[in-house]
Parts: sequence; structure tokens; C-alpha cells
Amino acid sequence: MGQIQRVAVIGAGTMGNGIAHVFALHGYEVYLVDISKDSLELALDIIARNLMRMVKKEKIREEQKEAALSRIKTHTTLEMAVDRVDLVVEAVVEDFSVKADVFQKVDRIAPSHAILATNTSSISITKIASVTNRPERVIGMHFFNPVPVMQLVEVIRGLTTSDEVAQTIMTLARELGKTPVEVRDFPGFVSNRVLMPMINEAIYALYEGVAGVEEIDTVMKLGMAHPMGPLHLADFIGLDVCLNIMKVLHLGLGRDKYAPCPLLVKMVLAGKLGIKTGEGFYDYSQGTKNKQVSSMFRK
Ligand code: NAI
Repeated sequence: MGQIQRVAVIGAGTMGNGIAHVFALHGYEVYLVDISKDSLELALDIIARNLMRMVKKEKIREEQKEAALSRIKTHTTLEMAVDRVDLVVEAVVEDFSVKADVFQKVDRIAPSHAILATNTSSISITKIASVTNRPERVIGMHFFNPVPVMQLVEVIRGLTTSDEVAQTIMTLARELGKTPVEVRDFPGFVSNRVLMPMINEAIYALYEGVAGVEEIDTVMKLGMAHPMGPLHLADFIGLDVCLNIMKVLHLGLGRDKYAPCPLLVKMVLAGKLGIKTGEGFYDYSQGTKNKQVSSMFRK
């Protein structure tokens, strides 16, 4: 297992519970921290259900599930959770001031050898590292949703991240059964730099009347072998998240081609954020499996 044995995962939401699941299943002691007790309870419940599904599919044995669950301890404060860990993976909300506060506190409490990783999807690793006294030990470890299923970990080196820390995290990701890819700290890294302009362009195609919602998604699914069309994927990610990432690309890279489509901006203003609000490009009122094109875009 190498030099990392104890891991704190900060934030027990969508990503945090998946990250805790994967570390615990691979034998690491996990300290899962969230300010919300409800989030922690829900996370444990989701992890147990997801592990149970793996048992049913005969991917793991019942004993492995039980062992993984016994390795996860939950905490509502950082103090007890990070004072003996070798690695911290932060997965709190995508807000720099919240992350900066977490990193400053963790930096004070965690042992000096501990690596501090962030699962941010768009904030600069160099900027997060700069609020700590150990910028060479801060790195991006960008997992994908759902974490137990998705193969990729984008490992992002900040300007100050040391070679040793980058190597440790690349090796660790492989030990978790993932495929790591090392990238540099630029807005959107690789994943969102390529994905989000594609989604934005699909929204432009709809906005300009090139084709309808289903037609655009069908072209990308059947013509390009994408498992999900870009408009359906935008609904899945959340249109507010897509808009925020386009703003990060536009501001950080300074080119007009990254300007968010006015239709995306309007949909977020209207609260049509995709699956989480029941409507985006599609209407999910009959359930996610029975989606229909939203009445806003029916011909
Ligand atoms: P989420 O909203 O599901 O969960 C965030 C959790 O952080 C909540 O449970 C909240 O109570 C907790 N939290 C907030 N402030 C905290 C604090 N100061 N200390 C401890 N816990 C705190 O968010 P989600 O989707 O899991 O995202 C987490 C991070 O992962 C974000 O940086 C996001 O950009 C990134 N990400 C999200 C992906 C996704 O598909 N949802 C994919 C890849 C990265």
C-alpha cells in the first residue's frame, strides 16, 4: 500500500462518498468529514448500497463489503479526522473561499508529510496551494462521477507541486484500480476544456436552430459513439455547473470562443438546471428513464 495508509475525505456529497468508497474498498483507513451530519449519514447509506450492488454483481465478496464499511469513520469537524492522516482529499462545494478555509485549517492540523489533494473541477490548483504553507504538497486529484465506476483520475500539477508528490498520487490512483492522466494547471484542465466547449456548441446549435434537442443528441450518440448526447449530458451535470465552468474558461483563457451561449445563461436564470430541478433540455417529470424533450424546445 506504500506510504499512504490513512486518508481523510473532506465533503461527503456526490463525489466525497464515492471517493471514500473507493479508498475503503482498497484497504485504506478513511476519515470522512462533513459539516452536515445528514450528509454523512446519507453518504454511509449510499456507500453501503453501492457496495451491496457490487456484491450482487459478484464483483466483491460480502466480507469485502463489511471490511470496507468498517474502515470508514465519520466526523463533523476536521480536528479529530486529519491529525494522523497521510493524505487529504478535499471534495467540498466548488467555491474558492470555502476550499481556501478548509485548506488553511487542514494545513495547520495535518502532519507535515501529508499530501493535500483537491477534487476541484475548475479552480486553479496553484491558487489553492498558495493558501497553505506546503504548496509543494498540494495537488489536484480529479475523480469522475460516479467515482466507483469511472476509470479516470485527472492528476493536476500546480506550478509548485513537487515531482515526488505527483509520482505518489499517480501510483496511488493506479493502486485504486484507476487510470491516472497527468495534466498541468490550466483553466478546465483537459476534461472540462474539451467537454464544456462541446456542450456549449451543442447549445449554440439548438439556439441557432440548426437542429432540435433529440436530433443534436442523436448525431453525437450514433455518429460519434458518445454514450450520451451533449444536451442530455448537460442536464446530467447541471446547467449551473456547465455555466460556471464556461465562465472559468472564458475568464481564464480570455478568448471569445469560450463565451457561454446566451441560451445556457437564460436557462440557468430560469432555474431550469437539468435533472436536479426536473427540467433542462429534457423534462424528467415522468422519471429519468422516461425523459421527453422539454416543452420549451418541442416543435
Ligand atoms: P456536493 O454538493 O454533492 O457535496 C459537497 C459536500 O461538501 C456537502 O455534503 C457539504 O455539506 C459539504 N461541505 C460544504 N462545506 C464544507 C466544509 N467547510 N467542510 C466539510 N464539508 C463541507 O458536491 P459534489 O458534486 O460532491 O462536488 C464536490 C467537489 O467535486 C466540487 O469541487 C466539484 O467541483 C467536484 N467535482 C464534482 C463532480 C460531479 O459530477 N458532481 C465531478 C468532478 C468533480
